[in-house]
Amino acid sequence: MSGPASSLSHGGDGIRSGSVADGRPLRPGVDISHRAILYLEAINVSFDGFRALNDLSLTVDAGELRCVIGPNGAGKTSLFNCISGFYRPNAGTILFEGRDIGRVHPPARAKIGLARTFQNIALFRGMTVLDNIKLGRHAHMRTGLLDALVYWGPARLEEIEVRAEIEQRVIDFLEIDHIRNQPVAALSYGLRKRVELARALAMRPKVLMLDEPVAGMNREEREDIARFILDVKQEWGVTILMVEHDMSLVMDISDHVVVLNFGKVIARGLPAEVAANEEVVRAYLGDGDVTALQARIQGARAA
Ligand SMILES: Nc1ncnc2c1ncn2[C@@H]1O[C@H](COP(=O)(O)OP(=O)(O)OP(=O)(O)O)[C@@H](O)[C@H]1O
Ligand SMILES: [Mg+2]
Repeated sequence: MSGPASSLSHGGDGIRSGSVADGRPLRPGVDISHRAILYLEAINVSFDGFRALNDLSLTVDAGELRCVIGPNGAGKTSLFNCISGFYRPNAGTILFEGRDIGRVHPPARAKIGLARTFQNIALFRGMTVLDNIKLGRHAHMRTGLLDALVYWGPARLEEIEVRAEIEQRVIDFLEIDHIRNQPVAALSYGLRKRVELARALAMRPKVLMLDEPVAGMNREEREDIARFILDVKQEWGVTILMVEHDMSLVMDISDHVVVLNFGKVIARGLPAEVAANEEVVRAYLGDGDVTALQARIQGARAA
């Protein structure tokens, strides 16, 4: 387990001294870590008066793997929807690399380096694996292939070749070359999840958001994905923000864990700190046996 030491805290996000990319603090009294690639402050999201996210603040440092956990309905996917631009918060600020992206549309957010996978796989089932992955590439292309040939000439063609190379790198890396021409509908659930990861990687993200990447997978598939996620972080240098219910995976691969309940951050810290936190365990368990669940979490870590 790597990552800087941090203490478990409630409320703020351990905001340290430093500055945003342009050197000026966001607003008086707010000063963020220079390492924060993603910074959310006081995000509120409501649906018909129901607060899905309630004054939520979160920092993600460049190069880390930060995991967001919490019971069903805690607001984890809503958080991802805010970062990727599918939901517009009622209030709050989102900075990416020091830049306020509140008014940036979802495709443009993908283009500047924010990619995600979805809790319910979002692939075109009738299309092949390769064509689905190519859709990731289109985040970076303003025009289709024909337009590129006509209007952009050799420089643009070179770029297309580079993209094709990236796709092949992603395909090789995720070991899905043997299925590249198969329709997605013919694949197992685990492979479909892997193709979705490939599509996100083909977008060359700076931050990769994974919404329950191992949900519904068997043990072997889970282990494969865990290895890929760690390699994406370590070898590709991609920052990862991951939502996951699988505690053993969370405890194994996260640098930091943030816990949501009812749209609020109830705890954050190193995985071991969070696992030892009674409020976290209660959030998962209601009024059940805290000691028993703690033992289960510890057991998952040891396994
Ligand atoms: N578009 C929406 N319209 C109305 N309510 C919504 C919408 N999106 C989310 N919510 C509500 O906000 C709350 C948080 O939902 P969200 O999907 O973010 O939870 P989650 O933490 O991802 O849960 P799970 O672990 O089950 O995926 C839920 O009560 C949900 O019903
Ligand atoms: Mg969800």
